Amino acid sequence: MMTLMSSQFQPVLERIAAEIERTPDRGRPADYIPALAACDPRTFGMAVAELDGTVYGVGDWREPFSTQSITKVFTLALDLAREGDELWEHVGREPSGNPFNSLVQLEYENGIPRNPFINAGALVVTDRLHSRTGDAAGELLSFLREESGNPALAFDEEVAASEAAHGDRNAALAHFMAAYGNIDNDIPVLLDQYFRQCSLRASCADLALATTFLARHGIRADGNRLLTLSQAKQINAIMLTCGTYDAAGDFAYRVGLPGKSGVGGGIIAVVPGRCTLCVWSPGLDERGNSVAGVAALDRFTTLTGVSVF
Ligand code: DON
Repeated sequence: MMTLMSSQFQPVLERIAAEIERTPDRGRPADYIPALAACDPRTFGMAVAELDGTVYGVGDWREPFSTQSITKVFTLALDLAREGDELWEHVGREPSGNPFNSLVQLEYENGIPRNPFINAGALVVTDRLHSRTGDAAGELLSFLREESGNPALAFDEEVAASEAAHGDRNAALAHFMAAYGNIDNDIPVLLDQYFRQCSLRASCADLALATTFLARHGIRADGNRLLTLSQAKQINAIMLTCGTYDAAGDFAYRVGLPGKSGVGGGIIAVVPGRCTLCVWSPGLDERGNSVAGVAALDRFTTLTGVSVF
């Protein structure tokens, strides 16, 4: 194993795609959102973006997919940039050790979610971003369009409606936190914002590019600073410890990078100061992370030596 120069990323991606192609078990697509259940688990795409915007890719890396919980990273960045440390009075920074949609800790912990990447925490962040901007989902969409350079990015109204129709757990989380005074907006307004946020479609190339501000320590694609150095460090650290829910320990052990998954089968990952990655394959393991996605990121850091450790 040796640390590779950037020009060698493309052959590594092709080697990983060939290995994944030979892997029989790819998990099962999320079935609790009917609009996602129809995805083919053998689909696979992967992209690497460098800090200057150069992107390498393989497989279905230009194909848009449902980003789902990956968007939680971007709403966190947009809210933290606006309100700073006050946010941490309303959401914690500890791994939950529980599934992403779990309710059990909230009562013991007085309506303060463990971290911004479980659903309860993301609802708090979206609520606060919505209070500050009047359109949390719109802010997210503009940001992702600008950072990816893709003005065609859009919400998927069918997925948002499908999720709203099966959204009892998220509604329960929001109402429960409202009872503790930790939600400001009306619950139907908040849920509409959250479901639209989750429904956003983007490709591996779009997401790898849109994540580069975290590898640039908070600097956006246009050179302007979104986050302080500390805030960028904080978000990367929370991705490492909480980005894959109750599998975060195993993900850190195997991949060694800050990462964030979504039930659409996508995962983003950050190599601070160097590059970002996005992988997509819709088959999930029992904890909601892409089987081939985690395997591909594991192979990438193993083959290249590119990691934070
Ligand atoms: O809140 C939900 O159930 C989904 N829209 C997002 C969940 C998700 O992606 C969790 N990630 N693995």
